[in-house]
Amino acid sequence: MTFNIAVIPGDGIGPEVTKQALLVLEKIGKVYGHSFNFIEALAGGCAYDLKGTPLPQETIDICKNSDSVILGAVGGPKWDNLPGNLRPEKGLLQIRKELGLYANIRPAVLFSPLKEACPLKPQLIEGGFDICVVRELTGGMYFGEKGRKESDMGEAAYDTELYSVKEVERIAKKAFEIARKRGSKVTNIDKMNVLESSRLWREVVNKTHEEYPDVTLNHLLVDNAAMQLIRDPKQFDVVVTTNMFGDILSDEASMLTGSIGMLPSASLGEGKFGLYEPIHGSAPDIAGQDKANPLATILSVAMMLRYSFDLEKEASSIEAAVQKVLTDGYRTGDIYNKGTKLVGTAEMGRLVVKNLK
Ligand code: NAD
Ligand code: IPM
Ligand code: MN
Repeated sequence: MTFNIAVIPGDGIGPEVTKQALLVLEKIGKVYGHSFNFIEALAGGCAYDLKGTPLPQETIDICKNSDSVILGAVGGPKWDNLPGNLRPEKGLLQIRKELGLYANIRPAVLFSPLKEACPLKPQLIEGGFDICVVRELTGGMYFGEKGRKESDMGEAAYDTELYSVKEVERIAKKAFEIARKRGSKVTNIDKMNVLESSRLWREVVNKTHEEYPDVTLNHLLVDNAAMQLIRDPKQFDVVVTTNMFGDILSDEASMLTGSIGMLPSASLGEGKFGLYEPIHGSAPDIAGQDKANPLATILSVAMMLRYSFDLEKEASSIEAAVQKVLTDGYRTGDIYNKGTKLVGTAEMGRLVVKNLK
């Protein structure tokens, strides 16, 4: 089979980690007889520098004409003083919206060799954990009305959290469908004791649940949820939550797996098309130093093979290669501990490629 993949390396460590993920895909192509065509496109700070916009129309067109998209990361201090609508991050938000990718699936799974890299006590993570965060991605405070205005306290600014019944319904459905294929448990996370948007959110999640009586549903307020993730991560199966809460809680969950450099994600809408992106950012503090962990991006490519192309065997072989490299003791700096072998970005990628079967 031939697959056309749009590649958006982005800024900072984005190009470094994306490069390794593409090498993994190329090897998968050789081993399993697929051909992957990569079409590079600009988004983020580099697009602003070259084209004056963080998301050129050409990039949207390339993505729409591809079978899937892989994205590194965007942003960095160089662009931090730009107005909101020209910022690199705006390009990322816009591309998710343009492509209708309202569901961001962020699996936080503990690879067994990384127990030492998890900051929790060993007894809390015995047997590992497998949390699937389903984050709403094209609504909420990220996309609601925003602006500046005078208030009785002087100059002020606002961002509006707004969710429609339809937006909540479709993300809740996604979460219940995913839960059916795994532990059949969904935890909804909101702030219904304070926010009207959360009260609507919870009502709609409950209503949608009526179509999924085989799935267990419970609710947590977001402050408690942040605490529960640290107290007992094994209680979670699928978590469904808003754009903002999902952004924050998935960074927290990533640390339980050892590092933010381990967490992949799939941004999905209706149908098979998807944008695959590590959850981390452009990590300006380590960019250009061959220090970034490429595994989140490599694992994102595995998600792409599974969700967009139905290539389950190929996806599993990437995950098995990652497991093997970690079992052999290789670590980038973010997951390093005494007694393991420190490697750089490129070497980590090479080791995964070498272990692909
Ligand atoms: P960040 O995720 O870039 O970095 C946070 C910390 O984690 C840093 O210390 C970094 O070195 C480390 N880290 C992140 N990814 C790593 C990896 N693969 N390997 C090893 N260490 C890694 O978050 P930040 O510092 O808050 O943001 C930096 C920039 O990235 C900002 O401009 C932000 O807007 C942007 N950002 C982009 C995305 C995205 O493109 N999806 C996501 C988050 C942040
Ligand atoms: C992420 C990032 C983005 C988000 C930013 C860069 C817009 O933090 O992908 O998690 O908040 O969605
Ligand atoms: Mn984030």
